[in-house]
Amino acid sequence: MARRALITGITGQDGSYLAEHLLDQGYDVWGLVRGQANPRVARVRRLLQDVQLVRGDLLDQGSLISAVERVQPDEVYNLGAISFVPMSWEQAELTAEVTGMGVLRMLEAIRVCSGITSSRAAGSGQIRFYQASSSEMFGQVRETPQNERTPFHPRSPYGVAKAYGHFLTQNYRESYGMFAVSGILFNHESPRRGAEFVTRKVTLGVARIKLGLASELRLGNLEARRDWGYAGDYVQAMRLMLQAGTPEDYVIGTGHTQSVRELVIAAFEAAQLDWESYVVGDQALHRPAEVDLLCADPKKARVQLGWEPTVAFEELVAMMVESDLKLLSEGADPEQDSSWP
Ligand code: NAP
Ligand code: GDD
Repeated sequence: MARRALITGITGQDGSYLAEHLLDQGYDVWGLVRGQANPRVARVRRLLQDVQLVRGDLLDQGSLISAVERVQPDEVYNLGAISFVPMSWEQAELTAEVTGMGVLRMLEAIRVCSGITSSRAAGSGQIRFYQASSSEMFGQVRETPQNERTPFHPRSPYGVAKAYGHFLTQNYRESYGMFAVSGILFNHESPRRGAEFVTRKVTLGVARIKLGLASELRLGNLEARRDWGYAGDYVQAMRLMLQAGTPEDYVIGTGHTQSVRELVIAAFEAAQLDWESYVVGDQALHRPAEVDLLCADPKKARVQLGWEPTVAFEELVAMMVESDLKLLSEGADPEQDSSWP
């Protein structure tokens, strides 16, 4: 019988790629959707027609229990979150509730539906759980590159909420014997990346300038460095973690790091434009506390899972610029979430 997966965050970048990957692998895929009239659900229905939808919200414990009871999943991928770091300063409590406490609610739904108690540990046919942890937890990094043993020093309410979810996942594994793991994923991007994140903001900005739809691009800190990979590669690592013999956490990244400035140069070059003529610095886009440098050490994932990234930074940026040029030329408005390449 086909394995059954439940994905929270199905309307997001990773949810879409993970759903496609699991469908390819023969899974029955279910996506958790929330809201009375969430416009992003229509996009899922259009692109992911074989995904079945179930209503639920990470803020609502009862809805998660009902979703797990209805779907009867073999695997749960918890990708739902407030994921935009600047928003986590503006709405810190909501971020703690969704990104942090949402993990507790999802783990509790699995525990209750599986009949697991402190005296009755998880059995062999248990539901396997994946938590979307983040390199933001490393924050002000203590060492470079960062691996599974590098201590955390989160620099945003988002990073703090992710650290809570990370330790809680570990704790449910240790307390109840659950197959519960975290992927500590470094930044990963794609043509489906939300327009608020810097890679997509830059590639959309370049496309608008190239097509004569804009004359400048306003950006914050150009010196921050990130380890950027391709989302399509990273969702494969999520599935591999849940197929492993033992439940363990893994760092997923490329092992390379580039600055936002290098991203900008690569994106403008991909459209044969001179970046210095268009990019304008904007102090309002700087963060109260910045993560200056992220760079993964993905050796454990390579050795134990056989996972490797396949798309290099320049290729990724060129892919995103090309996709945005095409979308805008066709009259789509990616800011309105109306389309998904
Ligand atoms: P994304 O595109 O921002 O998607 C976030 C998802 O969370 C959306 O589907 C959103 O659904 C859902 N969500 C928000 N509030 C919710 C709630 N109350 N209940 C249920 N779902 C809710 O994020 P992404 O880039 O795909 O990332 C997926 C996960 O990986 C996130 O947890 C993110 O924090 C984490 N992560 C991402 C990266 C990265 O570089 N992309 C790196 C490390 C970790 P709605 O349509 O309902 O709002
Ligand atoms: N968004 C944005 N907009 N970022 C900018 C801008 C701008 O105009 N100008 C400079 N930056 C810098 C930010 O200060 C940050 O250092 C870097 O670009 C990357 O910002 P984002 O793309 O917003 O991503 P992030 O690194 O904060 O967070 C992403 O990656 C995390 C994993 O490390 C998100 O996907 C998180 O959900 C994820 O956990």
